Amino acid sequence: MDLRISGVARPAAVTIMVGGNPVRAHAGESLAAALIAEGLWRFGEGDDPARPRTTFCMMGVCQQCLLRVDGRLVQACLTPVVAGQVVTSA
Ligand code: FES
Repeated sequence: MDLRISGVARPAAVTIMVGGNPVRAHAGESLAAALIAEGLWRFGEGDDPARPRTTFCMMGVCQQCLLRVDGRLVQACLTPVVAGQVVTSA
């Protein structure tokens, strides 16, 4: 799946690992945008299993996009993609 707008120049694709699976992304794009573009919008479980966490503000305010990247807790909307990142749920 690729929900990115076609015809836009981007850096070469890189691979990151998300939940143990390889995912294509572009260096420098926000991790949150990269995951959503690949159809991975579920960022974690909330109190209600019927309402999983996903991005909301995309500007570092709501904390709904928290993920672990290379073992560190980060806001995915403010974290740029770097080749080889290992992403897991928070
Ligand atoms: S989506 Fe709100 S802090 Fe990332």
